[in-house]
Amino acid sequence: MSIRPSLVTGATGKLGRLIVERLVALGQPVRVFTRRPETARSLFGETVQIATGDFGDRASLEAAVGGVGRLLLLSPISTRLVTDQIAAVDAAVAANTKRIVKISGSDWTIEPAGNSISGAAHAAVEQHLNSLPVETVSLRPNAWMQVSLANTITRAITSSQVIAPNLSAGIGYIDARDIADVAVHQLLADRIRGRTLNITGPDIVSFKQIAALLTAALDRPVAALEKPPQAASGDGDFEHRAVAQFVRLIAADRAAVTTDVVPTLLGRSPRTVADFILEQVAAATAIPEYQP
Ligand SMILES: NC(=O)c1ccc[n+]([C@@H]2O[C@H](COP(=O)([O-])OP(=O)(O)OC[C@H]3O[C@@H](n4cnc5c(N)ncnc54)[C@H](OP(=O)(O)O)[C@@H]3O)[C@@H](O)[C@H]2O)c1
Repeated sequence: MSIRPSLVTGATGKLGRLIVERLVALGQPVRVFTRRPETARSLFGETVQIATGDFGDRASLEAAVGGVGRLLLLSPISTRLVTDQIAAVDAAVAANTKRIVKISGSDWTIEPAGNSISGAAHAAVEQHLNSLPVETVSLRPNAWMQVSLANTITRAITSSQVIAPNLSAGIGYIDARDIADVAVHQLLADRIRGRTLNITGPDIVSFKQIAALLTAALDRPVAALEKPPQAASGDGDFEHRAVAQFVRLIAADRAAVTTDVVPTLLGRSPRTVADFILEQVAAATAIPEYQP
């Protein structure tokens, strides 16, 4: 009997593509859901099935989930997150999908409630998942190295400064490659490990420490400067308001958390901020090869 494919939503995005690559490398059949089939084809070649569609188009969702064994659920922060994700989940359950792995918000955006519009949206989807008669797990990754830390590194390379509202505030940054490894583990494992998993890196690193690590990696001084966050305007779009809330929560030390989820599930330590900084600096300062 052939294995039913896993459907990956958000497959062309930063995290989704890492998850697809891992599933394909393991020989798993994969179907990707995308509005941009040409982009998916150029990313993954012929190694995946492509289901062209939009979360807002129910018929395209129903076609995409047909015969799917597992669903990896990911969509961007937006006012549509709750309706989009619940539509995908309900279509998958109606098609007898046996397991759903959701990429949720960071734990500190969800609990305690009331601090983050993004966390509230993810919480609403998690609550819906918990009411379903299928296996579901919500992965709550801490801040990703490839997003906020990568931006900090890029700015520091050009300006020699790390700027944050609270230089002592720490973050248990997680490398997106480790999130992808956990997601694939939970998609394929014999059994899932609970309703929610708070995934973090191995260390809590402050902005002051990031400046010191960059000073060493770049072999020149990188200053750490404290600057209050820009006043949050209530009329920005959903994503900008959500990001302004993340900045305030991080400054209040709420992201200073580590857990043992990665070593427990994967049997190895998560990737470190120190290694990520070395890797990024090496890539940014590499001398291009001579092309005659
Ligand atoms: N960055 C962090 O530190 C962090 C921390 C915790 C949680 N998260 C969560 O991670 C998620 C974002 O992941 P990401 O950064 O990998 O996303 P991303 O790079 O922004 O990619 C978004 C993906 O969603 C797909 N998409 C968007 N609108 C769609 C629609 N209407 N119909 C179908 N597909 C659609 C896009 O596919 P096409 O364009 O190909 O259709 C794309 O693959 C969010 O839910 C966020 O809350 C992020």
